[in-house]
Amino acid sequence: MIASFKSLVYQRCGLHLEGLAESRLFRAVASLQVSTEITDTTQLLERLTNDPALFDHFVSQLTVNETYFNREPEALQWLVSHYLPERLAAGRAPLAIFSAGCSSGEEPYSLAMMLFEHFGERAKGLFTLTGGDVDQQVLAKARQAVYGGMAFRALSPTFRARYFSPHKACFKLHDSLRDWVNFRPFNLLNVHENKSGGPFDVILFRNVSIYFDEQTRRHIHQQLLKLLAPNGIILCGVTETLGNDLGVLELTEARGVFYFRRAVDSTPSSIDSPLPPLRSTNSNAENHAEEAAWLDDGADDSTPHSTELGLDNSDDEASAAMPEVAPQDISQQLHSAHQLLNQNAFAETDTLLQTLLEQQPWSIDALVLAGLVARWQQQPQAAYGHFKRAIYAAPECWPAHFYLAELYRQGELTDEPLQRQRSYAAVVRLLTTAPTSRGGLDTIDLPLPPGDARFLAERHLNALNIPLATSCTTQGVG
Ligand SMILES: C[S@@+](CC[C@H](N)C(=O)[O-])C[C@H]1O[C@@H](n2cnc3c(N)ncnc32)[C@H](O)[C@@H]1O
Repeated sequence: MIASFKSLVYQRCGLHLEGLAESRLFRAVASLQVSTEITDTTQLLERLTNDPALFDHFVSQLTVNETYFNREPEALQWLVSHYLPERLAAGRAPLAIFSAGCSSGEEPYSLAMMLFEHFGERAKGLFTLTGGDVDQQVLAKARQAVYGGMAFRALSPTFRARYFSPHKACFKLHDSLRDWVNFRPFNLLNVHENKSGGPFDVILFRNVSIYFDEQTRRHIHQQLLKLLAPNGIILCGVTETLGNDLGVLELTEARGVFYFRRAVDSTPSSIDSPLPPLRSTNSNAENHAEEAAWLDDGADDSTPHSTELGLDNSDDEASAAMPEVAPQDISQQLHSAHQLLNQNAFAETDTLLQTLLEQQPWSIDALVLAGLVARWQQQPQAAYGHFKRAIYAAPECWPAHFYLAELYRQGELTDEPLQRQRSYAAVVRLLTTAPTSRGGLDTIDLPLPPGDARFLAERHLNALNIPLATSCTTQGVG
Protein backbone atom coordinates (compact mmCIF):
# COMPACT_ATOMS: atom_id res chain seq x y z
CA MET A 1 0.00 0.00 0.00
CA ILE A 2 2.86 2.33 0.76
CA ALA A 3 3.70 1.97 -2.94
CA SER A 4 0.55 3.93 -3.84
CA PHE A 5 1.63 6.87 -1.65
CA LYS A 6 5.07 6.65 -3.16
CA SER A 7 3.68 6.72 -6.66
CA LEU A 8 1.36 9.66 -5.92
CA VAL A 9 4.29 11.72 -4.64
CA TYR A 10 6.45 10.64 -7.56
CA GLN A 11 3.77 11.56 -10.10
CA ARG A 12 3.07 14.96 -8.64
CA CYS A 13 6.47 16.08 -7.36
CA GLY A 14 8.96 13.68 -8.93
CA LEU A 15 10.39 12.81 -5.54
CA HIS A 16 11.97 9.41 -5.57
CA LEU A 17 11.26 7.98 -2.15
CA GLU A 18 13.59 5.02 -2.04
CA GLY A 19 16.20 3.96 0.48
CA LEU A 20 16.43 6.27 3.46
CA ALA A 21 13.69 8.49 2.08
CA GLU A 22 11.26 5.58 2.38
CA SER A 23 11.38 5.77 6.17
CA ARG A 24 10.35 9.44 5.91
CA LEU A 25 7.38 8.33 3.86
CA PHE A 26 6.37 5.74 6.48
CA ARG A 27 6.55 8.40 9.20
CA ALA A 28 4.58 10.91 7.12
CA VAL A 29 1.81 8.37 6.43
CA ALA A 30 1.62 7.43 10.12
CA SER A 31 1.39 11.08 11.09
CA LEU A 32 -1.31 11.63 8.46
CA GLN A 33 -3.32 8.76 9.91
CA VAL A 34 -3.21 10.44 13.32
CA SER A 35 -4.03 13.95 12.09
CA THR A 36 -6.90 12.85 9.82
CA GLU A 37 -8.08 10.02 12.08
CA ILE A 38 -8.31 7.86 8.95
CA THR A 39 -6.60 4.53 9.53
CA ASP A 40 -7.79 2.86 6.34
CA THR A 41 -5.00 3.48 3.85
CA THR A 42 -7.22 3.36 0.76
CA GLN A 43 -9.43 6.10 2.19
CA LEU A 44 -6.39 8.01 3.33
CA LEU A 45 -4.89 7.91 -0.14
CA GLU A 46 -8.13 9.10 -1.67
CA ARG A 47 -8.34 12.01 0.75
CA LEU A 48 -4.73 12.90 0.10
CA THR A 49 -5.26 12.79 -3.66
CA ASN A 50 -8.22 15.15 -3.50
CA ASP A 51 -7.21 17.56 -0.77
CA PRO A 52 -4.49 19.95 -2.04
CA ALA A 53 -3.81 21.50 1.38
CA LEU A 54 -3.38 18.10 2.97
CA PHE A 55 -1.14 17.02 0.12
CA ASP A 56 1.03 20.14 0.56
CA HIS A 57 1.39 19.39 4.23
CA PHE A 58 2.26 15.78 3.46
CA VAL A 59 4.90 16.79 0.90
CA SER A 60 6.52 19.16 3.36
CA GLN A 61 7.32 16.15 5.51
CA LEU A 62 9.02 14.41 2.59
CA THR A 63 11.16 17.12 1.09
CA VAL A 64 14.72 17.69 2.20
CA ASN A 65 15.00 21.40 2.85
CA GLU A 66 18.59 21.56 4.03
CA THR A 67 20.06 24.90 2.98
CA TYR A 68 22.13 27.77 4.38
CA PHE A 69 23.44 31.20 3.43
CA ASN A 70 26.39 31.43 1.11
CA ARG A 71 26.22 27.77 0.12
CA GLU A 72 28.64 26.97 -2.70
CA PRO A 73 29.56 30.64 -3.12
CA GLU A 74 31.94 30.13 -6.06
CA ALA A 75 29.11 30.09 -8.60
CA LEU A 76 27.31 33.01 -6.96
CA GLN A 77 30.52 35.06 -6.94
CA TRP A 78 31.04 34.32 -10.61
CA LEU A 79 27.48 35.42 -11.39
CA VAL A 80 27.82 38.67 -9.50
CA SER A 81 31.34 39.60 -10.58
CA HIS A 82 31.43 38.33 -14.14
CA TYR A 83 28.36 36.86 -15.76
CA LEU A 84 25.72 39.40 -14.75
CA PRO A 85 27.87 42.51 -15.41
CA GLU A 86 28.61 41.13 -18.85
CA ARG A 87 24.91 40.55 -19.52
CA LEU A 88 24.13 44.06 -18.34
CA ALA A 89 26.83 45.47 -20.58
CA ALA A 90 25.09 43.73 -23.47
CA GLY A 91 22.22 46.05 -22.70
CA ARG A 92 19.44 44.09 -21.04
CA ALA A 93 17.93 45.04 -17.70
CA PRO A 94 16.38 44.06 -15.46
CA LEU A 95 17.76 40.54 -15.53
CA ALA A 96 15.52 37.91 -13.97
CA ILE A 97 17.02 35.41 -11.56
CA PHE A 98 15.17 32.38 -10.24
CA SER A 99 16.03 30.01 -7.42
CA ALA A 100 14.22 26.78 -8.39
CA GLY A 101 13.83 24.76 -5.20
CA CYS A 102 14.69 27.71 -2.97
CA SER A 103 13.70 26.03 0.29
CA SER A 104 13.49 28.61 3.11
CA GLY A 105 15.07 31.35 1.01
CA GLU A 106 18.74 31.30 2.01
CA GLU A 107 19.87 30.87 -1.61
CA PRO A 108 18.05 33.84 -3.21
CA TYR A 109 18.74 36.00 -0.15
CA SER A 110 22.45 35.17 -0.36
CA LEU A 111 22.44 36.37 -3.93
CA ALA A 112 20.49 39.47 -2.91
CA MET A 113 23.19 40.35 -0.37
CA MET A 114 25.99 39.77 -2.87
CA LEU A 115 24.27 41.81 -5.57
CA PHE A 116 23.67 44.59 -3.11
CA GLU A 117 27.34 44.55 -2.10
CA HIS A 118 28.41 44.73 -5.73
CA PHE A 119 25.87 47.11 -7.28
CA GLY A 120 24.57 49.00 -4.25
CA GLU A 121 20.98 50.20 -4.11
CA ARG A 122 20.64 50.21 -7.91
CA ALA A 123 20.84 46.38 -7.82
CA LYS A 124 17.12 46.36 -7.18
CA GLY A 125 16.46 48.04 -10.51
CA LEU A 126 18.90 45.80 -12.35
CA PHE A 127 17.72 42.41 -11.14
CA THR A 128 14.50 40.70 -10.18
CA LEU A 129 14.83 37.83 -7.71
CA THR A 130 12.30 35.02 -7.42
CA GLY A 131 12.30 31.86 -5.33
CA GLY A 132 10.06 28.88 -6.00
CA ASP A 133 9.47 25.65 -4.11
CA VAL A 134 6.94 22.84 -4.02
CA ASP A 135 6.93 22.94 -0.24
CA GLN A 136 4.56 25.64 0.99
CA GLN A 137 5.85 25.51 4.54
CA VAL A 138 9.38 26.46 3.57
CA LEU A 139 8.03 29.23 1.38
CA ALA A 140 6.21 30.69 4.38
CA LYS A 141 9.48 30.58 6.29
CA ALA A 142 11.28 32.22 3.37
CA ARG A 143 8.80 35.09 3.36
CA GLN A 144 9.32 35.64 7.09
CA ALA A 145 13.11 35.69 6.60
CA VAL A 146 13.86 34.83 10.22
CA TYR A 147 16.77 32.44 10.70
CA GLY A 148 18.55 30.55 13.45
CA GLY A 149 22.27 30.04 13.89
CA MET A 150 22.78 27.06 11.57
CA ALA A 151 21.62 29.05 8.55
CA PHE A 152 24.63 31.33 9.05
CA ARG A 153 27.28 28.66 9.27
CA ALA A 154 28.92 29.67 5.98
CA LEU A 155 28.14 33.39 6.04
CA SER A 156 30.68 35.87 7.30
CA PRO A 157 29.72 37.60 10.58
CA THR A 158 30.15 40.92 8.77
CA PHE A 159 27.33 40.08 6.38
CA ARG A 160 25.14 38.91 9.22
CA ALA A 161 25.72 42.13 11.11
CA ARG A 162 25.15 44.23 7.98
CA TYR A 163 21.96 42.66 6.69
CA PHE A 164 20.21 41.11 9.73
CA SER A 165 18.81 42.36 13.02
CA PRO A 166 18.43 40.28 16.16
CA HIS A 167 14.92 38.88 16.39
CA LYS A 168 14.13 36.97 19.61
CA ALA A 169 16.74 34.19 19.64
CA CYS A 170 17.20 34.45 15.85
CA PHE A 171 18.06 37.01 13.18
CA LYS A 172 15.75 38.73 10.74
CA LEU A 173 16.79 39.90 7.28
CA HIS A 174 16.27 43.62 6.72
CA ASP A 175 13.01 44.36 4.95
CA SER A 176 14.78 46.22 2.15
CA LEU A 177 16.29 42.93 0.97
CA ARG A 178 13.45 40.69 2.04
CA ASP A 179 10.95 42.63 -0.05
CA TRP A 180 13.15 42.40 -3.10
CA VAL A 181 12.73 38.61 -3.34
CA ASN A 182 9.42 37.29 -4.53
CA PHE A 183 8.48 33.76 -3.42
CA ARG A 184 5.92 31.60 -5.18
CA PRO A 185 4.69 28.00 -5.23
CA PHE A 186 6.44 26.11 -7.95
CA ASN A 187 6.63 22.51 -9.10
CA LEU A 188 9.62 21.54 -11.19
CA LEU A 189 7.60 18.82 -12.82
CA ASN A 190 4.99 21.08 -14.21
CA VAL A 191 6.02 24.67 -14.72
CA HIS A 192 3.88 27.50 -16.00
CA GLU A 193 5.86 30.40 -17.29
CA ASN A 194 3.30 32.96 -16.23
CA LYS A 195 2.76 31.58 -12.76
CA SER A 196 6.48 31.17 -12.16
CA GLY A 197 7.30 34.70 -13.31
CA GLY A 198 9.63 33.67 -16.15
CA PRO A 199 11.37 33.82 -18.49
CA PHE A 200 14.54 33.89 -16.43
CA ASP A 201 18.06 34.85 -17.39
CA VAL A 202 19.57 32.75 -14.63
CA ILE A 203 18.02 29.70 -12.99
CA LEU A 204 19.67 28.32 -9.89
CA PHE A 205 18.81 24.63 -9.74
CA ARG A 206 21.19 23.68 -6.98
CA ASN A 207 21.04 20.80 -4.55
CA VAL A 208 17.65 19.79 -5.82
CA SER A 209 18.25 17.38 -8.69
CA ILE A 210 19.94 14.83 -6.44
CA TYR A 211 16.51 13.72 -5.29
CA PHE A 212 15.27 12.79 -8.75
CA ASP A 213 15.98 9.80 -10.96
CA GLU A 214 17.43 10.33 -14.42
CA GLN A 215 14.13 10.14 -16.25
CA THR A 216 12.66 12.80 -13.97
CA ARG A 217 15.74 15.01 -14.32
CA ARG A 218 15.37 14.84 -18.09
CA HIS A 219 11.73 15.90 -17.78
CA ILE A 220 12.71 18.70 -15.40
CA HIS A 221 15.29 19.98 -17.88
CA GLN A 222 12.54 20.27 -20.48
CA GLN A 223 10.42 22.13 -17.98
CA LEU A 224 13.22 24.48 -17.00
CA LEU A 225 13.86 25.25 -20.65
CA LYS A 226 10.33 26.63 -20.83
CA LEU A 227 11.32 29.14 -18.17
CA LEU A 228 14.71 30.01 -19.58
CA ALA A 229 15.23 33.26 -21.51
CA PRO A 230 16.90 32.72 -24.93
CA ASN A 231 20.44 33.41 -23.64
CA GLY A 232 19.73 32.23 -20.13
CA ILE A 233 21.77 29.79 -18.10
CA ILE A 234 21.07 27.13 -15.49
CA LEU A 235 23.44 26.49 -12.61
CA CYS A 236 23.44 23.20 -10.74
CA GLY A 237 25.16 22.42 -7.45
CA VAL A 238 28.77 21.28 -7.51
CA THR A 239 27.85 17.65 -6.95
CA GLU A 240 25.17 17.63 -9.60
CA THR A 241 26.89 18.54 -12.82
CA LEU A 242 27.49 14.99 -13.97
CA GLY A 243 24.00 13.86 -13.09
CA ASN A 244 22.52 16.69 -15.14
CA ASP A 245 24.62 16.26 -18.23
CA LEU A 246 21.87 14.35 -19.99
CA GLY A 247 21.99 15.83 -23.46
CA VAL A 248 19.01 18.16 -23.00
CA LEU A 249 21.15 21.09 -21.85
CA GLU A 250 24.62 21.96 -23.01
CA LEU A 251 27.34 21.90 -20.39
CA THR A 252 29.54 24.97 -20.48
CA GLU A 253 32.42 26.34 -18.43
CA ALA A 254 33.70 29.79 -17.63
CA ARG A 255 36.35 30.72 -15.06
CA GLY A 256 36.12 27.32 -13.43
CA VAL A 257 32.34 27.48 -13.00
CA PHE A 258 30.25 24.90 -14.83
CA TYR A 259 26.76 25.71 -16.00
CA PHE A 260 24.16 24.69 -18.57
CA ARG A 261 22.48 26.53 -21.40
CA ARG A 262 20.23 25.68 -24.31
CA ALA A 263 21.80 22.97 -26.44
CA VAL A 264 21.16 24.89 -29.65
CA ASP A 265 22.00 28.49 -28.96
CA SER A 266 22.88 30.54 -31.96
CA THR A 267 24.13 33.52 -29.98
CA PRO A 268 26.70 32.30 -27.49
CA SER A 269 28.20 34.83 -25.14
CA SER A 270 31.89 35.54 -25.43
CA ILE A 271 32.62 33.92 -22.07
CA ASP A 272 31.05 30.60 -22.99
CA SER A 273 32.99 27.53 -23.84
CA PRO A 274 31.00 24.36 -24.53
CA LEU A 275 32.40 21.18 -23.05
CA PRO A 276 32.23 17.59 -24.21
CA PRO A 277 29.57 15.55 -22.40
CA LEU A 278 30.58 14.26 -19.00
CA ARG A 279 28.35 11.23 -19.30
CA SER A 280 31.00 8.99 -20.76
CA THR A 281 32.88 8.72 -17.49
CA ASN A 282 32.27 8.34 -13.85
CA SER A 283 28.52 7.79 -13.79
CA ASN A 284 28.57 7.41 -10.01
CA ALA A 285 29.64 10.98 -9.54
CA GLU A 286 26.55 11.77 -7.55
CA ASN A 287 27.97 9.59 -4.81
CA HIS A 288 30.82 11.99 -4.31
CA ALA A 289 28.73 14.67 -2.72
CA GLU A 290 30.92 15.17 0.27
CA GLU A 291 34.17 15.25 -1.62
CA ALA A 292 32.70 17.64 -4.17
CA ALA A 293 32.20 20.02 -1.32
CA TRP A 294 35.86 20.80 -1.61
CA LEU A 295 35.42 22.15 -5.08
CA ASP A 296 34.17 25.26 -3.46
CA ASP A 297 37.41 27.14 -3.69
CA GLY A 298 36.15 30.48 -4.97
CA ALA A 299 36.71 31.79 -8.48
CA ASP A 300 38.61 35.03 -8.66
CA ASP A 301 40.42 37.25 -11.08
CA SER A 302 43.49 35.05 -11.04
CA THR A 303 41.34 32.22 -12.31
CA PRO A 304 42.00 31.73 -16.00
CA HIS A 305 39.28 32.20 -18.59
CA SER A 306 37.86 29.08 -20.14
CA THR A 307 39.68 29.77 -23.35
CA GLU A 308 42.93 29.76 -21.40
CA LEU A 309 42.21 26.44 -19.76
CA GLY A 310 43.25 24.44 -22.76
CA LEU A 311 39.75 22.99 -23.01
CA ASP A 312 38.76 20.98 -25.99
CA ASN A 313 36.49 23.19 -28.04
CA SER A 314 36.37 20.89 -31.03
CA ASP A 315 32.86 20.35 -32.24
CA ASP A 316 30.92 17.19 -31.52
CA GLU A 317 30.91 16.04 -35.12
CA ALA A 318 34.67 16.01 -35.21
CA SER A 319 34.91 13.91 -32.06
CA ALA A 320 32.12 11.64 -33.26
CA ALA A 321 34.11 10.92 -36.40
CA MET A 322 37.13 9.84 -34.36
CA PRO A 323 37.71 6.09 -34.27
CA GLU A 324 36.96 4.43 -30.92
CA VAL A 325 40.03 3.33 -29.00
CA ALA A 326 39.79 0.02 -27.16
CA PRO A 327 39.98 0.35 -23.34
CA GLN A 328 43.17 -1.75 -23.18
CA ASP A 329 44.82 0.60 -25.68
CA ILE A 330 43.82 3.61 -23.64
CA SER A 331 45.25 2.05 -20.54
CA GLN A 332 48.47 1.23 -22.39
CA GLN A 333 48.71 4.78 -23.69
CA LEU A 334 48.18 6.17 -20.21
CA HIS A 335 51.01 4.01 -18.90
CA SER A 336 53.22 5.18 -21.78
CA ALA A 337 52.34 8.80 -21.07
CA HIS A 338 53.22 8.38 -17.42
CA GLN A 339 56.51 6.73 -18.32
CA LEU A 340 57.36 9.51 -20.78
CA LEU A 341 56.57 12.07 -18.10
CA ASN A 342 58.89 10.32 -15.67
CA GLN A 343 61.60 10.54 -18.33
CA ASN A 344 60.94 14.30 -18.64
CA ALA A 345 59.89 13.84 -22.27
CA PHE A 346 57.31 16.58 -21.90
CA ALA A 347 56.56 17.31 -25.55
CA GLU A 348 55.94 13.62 -26.35
CA THR A 349 53.82 13.18 -23.22
CA ASP A 350 51.83 16.23 -24.16
CA THR A 351 51.14 14.97 -27.70
CA LEU A 352 50.07 11.57 -26.43
CA LEU A 353 47.81 13.06 -23.80
CA GLN A 354 46.18 15.45 -26.24
CA THR A 355 45.15 12.49 -28.40
CA LEU A 356 43.94 10.63 -25.35
CA LEU A 357 41.90 13.56 -24.11
CA GLU A 358 40.28 13.93 -27.50
CA GLN A 359 39.04 10.38 -27.06
CA GLN A 360 38.33 10.53 -23.33
CA PRO A 361 37.91 14.18 -22.36
CA TRP A 362 37.03 13.29 -18.77
CA SER A 363 39.62 10.61 -18.10
CA ILE A 364 40.88 11.40 -14.62
CA ASP A 365 44.20 9.71 -15.29
CA ALA A 366 44.77 11.72 -18.46
CA LEU A 367 43.68 14.99 -16.83
CA VAL A 368 46.01 14.56 -13.86
CA LEU A 369 48.92 13.66 -16.13
CA ALA A 370 48.11 16.58 -18.42
CA GLY A 371 48.09 18.88 -15.39
CA LEU A 372 51.49 17.61 -14.33
CA VAL A 373 52.97 18.01 -17.81
CA ALA A 374 51.60 21.53 -18.07
CA ARG A 375 53.11 22.32 -14.69
CA TRP A 376 56.53 21.02 -15.66
CA GLN A 377 56.30 23.06 -18.83
CA GLN A 378 55.64 26.20 -16.78
CA GLN A 379 52.05 26.52 -17.96
CA PRO A 380 50.32 26.92 -14.59
CA GLN A 381 47.02 28.12 -16.00
CA ALA A 382 46.71 25.11 -18.27
CA ALA A 383 47.68 22.92 -15.29
CA TYR A 384 45.00 24.62 -13.22
CA GLY A 385 42.40 23.84 -15.92
CA HIS A 386 43.32 20.16 -16.06
CA PHE A 387 43.32 19.68 -12.28
CA LYS A 388 40.08 21.54 -11.92
CA ARG A 389 38.42 19.38 -14.55
CA ALA A 390 39.73 16.24 -12.87
CA ILE A 391 38.14 17.41 -9.62
CA TYR A 392 34.90 18.19 -11.35
CA ALA A 393 34.67 14.72 -12.80
CA ALA A 394 35.99 13.02 -9.65
CA PRO A 395 35.73 15.19 -6.56
CA GLU A 396 37.65 12.55 -4.61
CA CYS A 397 40.72 13.13 -6.80
CA TRP A 398 43.11 14.09 -4.01
CA PRO A 399 46.16 14.28 -6.34
CA ALA A 400 44.39 17.05 -8.31
CA HIS A 401 43.50 18.88 -5.08
CA PHE A 402 47.10 18.51 -3.92
CA TYR A 403 48.69 19.86 -7.09
CA LEU A 404 46.16 22.66 -7.30
CA ALA A 405 47.26 23.78 -3.84
CA GLU A 406 50.88 23.44 -4.91
CA LEU A 407 50.29 25.79 -7.85
CA TYR A 408 49.35 28.45 -5.32
CA ARG A 409 51.95 27.61 -2.69
CA GLN A 410 54.83 27.61 -5.15
CA GLY A 411 53.68 30.94 -6.57
CA GLU A 412 52.99 29.48 -10.02
CA LEU A 413 49.53 31.05 -9.78
CA THR A 414 48.94 34.25 -7.84
CA ASP A 415 48.66 32.95 -4.31
CA GLU A 416 45.22 32.65 -2.78
CA PRO A 417 45.80 31.42 0.78
CA LEU A 418 42.16 30.49 1.32
CA GLN A 419 41.98 28.47 -1.89
CA ARG A 420 45.28 26.86 -1.09
CA GLN A 421 43.97 25.97 2.33
CA ARG A 422 40.77 24.49 0.94
CA SER A 423 42.68 22.30 -1.47
CA TYR A 424 45.13 20.99 1.13
CA ALA A 425 42.25 20.47 3.55
CA ALA A 426 40.49 18.42 0.87
CA VAL A 427 43.55 16.18 0.61
CA VAL A 428 43.68 15.66 4.36
CA ARG A 429 40.00 15.02 4.60
CA LEU A 430 39.87 12.61 1.67
CA LEU A 431 42.90 10.67 2.84
CA THR A 432 41.70 10.57 6.44
CA THR A 433 38.46 8.98 5.28
CA ALA A 434 40.17 6.61 2.84
CA PRO A 435 43.92 6.47 3.58
CA THR A 436 44.78 4.30 0.58
CA SER A 437 42.39 5.93 -1.89
CA ARG A 438 43.49 6.11 -5.52
CA GLY A 439 41.62 9.37 -5.83
CA GLY A 440 39.64 8.30 -8.88
CA LEU A 441 42.73 7.26 -10.87
CA ASP A 442 42.02 3.98 -12.65
CA THR A 443 45.21 3.16 -14.44
CA ILE A 444 48.41 5.05 -13.76
CA ASP A 445 50.53 4.68 -10.64
CA LEU A 446 49.77 7.34 -8.08
CA PRO A 447 51.96 10.36 -8.76
CA LEU A 448 52.82 10.48 -5.04
CA PRO A 449 52.06 8.10 -2.16
CA PRO A 450 48.86 8.97 -0.29
CA GLY A 451 50.69 8.97 3.07
CA ASP A 452 53.20 11.54 1.81
CA ALA A 453 50.46 13.68 0.28
CA ARG A 454 48.55 13.73 3.53
CA PHE A 455 51.65 14.48 5.59
CA LEU A 456 52.67 17.34 3.33
CA ALA A 457 49.15 18.73 3.10
CA GLU A 458 48.89 18.74 6.90
CA ARG A 459 52.23 20.49 7.22
CA HIS A 460 51.33 23.15 4.67
CA LEU A 461 47.96 23.62 6.34
CA ASN A 462 49.63 24.19 9.72
CA ALA A 463 52.01 26.66 8.13
CA LEU A 464 49.09 28.60 6.71
CA ASN A 465 47.71 29.12 10.18
CA ILE A 466 44.25 30.27 9.06
CA PRO A 467 41.43 29.15 11.35
CA LEU A 468 39.47 26.56 9.40
CA ALA A 469 36.07 27.88 10.43
CA THR A 470 36.57 31.28 8.81
CA SER A 471 37.44 30.04 5.40
CA CYS A 472 36.70 26.42 4.97
CA THR A 473 33.02 25.79 5.08
CA THR A 474 32.15 22.17 4.63
CA GLN A 475 29.60 22.21 1.88
CA GLY A 476 27.33 19.24 1.87
CA VAL A 477 24.26 18.41 -0.07
CA GLY A 478 20.89 18.93 1.45
C1 LIG B 1 17.99 20.74 -0.41
S1 LIG B 1 16.91 22.04 -0.81
C2 LIG B 1 17.97 23.07 -1.76
C3 LIG B 1 17.80 24.51 -1.43
C4 LIG B 1 18.72 25.48 -2.18
N1 LIG B 1 18.50 25.42 -3.61
C5 LIG B 1 20.17 25.25 -1.85
O1 LIG B 1 20.95 24.91 -2.75
O2 LIG B 1 20.55 25.41 -0.69
C6 LIG B 1 15.88 21.25 -2.03
C7 LIG B 1 14.54 21.93 -2.22
O3 LIG B 1 13.92 21.43 -3.41
C8 LIG B 1 12.53 21.41 -3.20
N2 LIG B 1 11.85 20.53 -4.15
C9 LIG B 1 11.79 19.17 -4.13
N3 LIG B 1 11.01 18.73 -5.11
C10 LIG B 1 10.57 19.82 -5.79
C11 LIG B 1 9.71 20.00 -6.92
N4 LIG B 1 9.16 18.97 -7.55
N5 LIG B 1 9.48 21.26 -7.32
C12 LIG B 1 10.02 22.33 -6.67
N6 LIG B 1 10.82 22.21 -5.60
C13 LIG B 1 11.09 20.97 -5.16
C14 LIG B 1 12.42 20.93 -1.77
O4 LIG B 1 11.16 21.27 -1.20
C15 LIG B 1 13.58 21.64 -1.09
O5 LIG B 1 13.19 22.82 -0.47
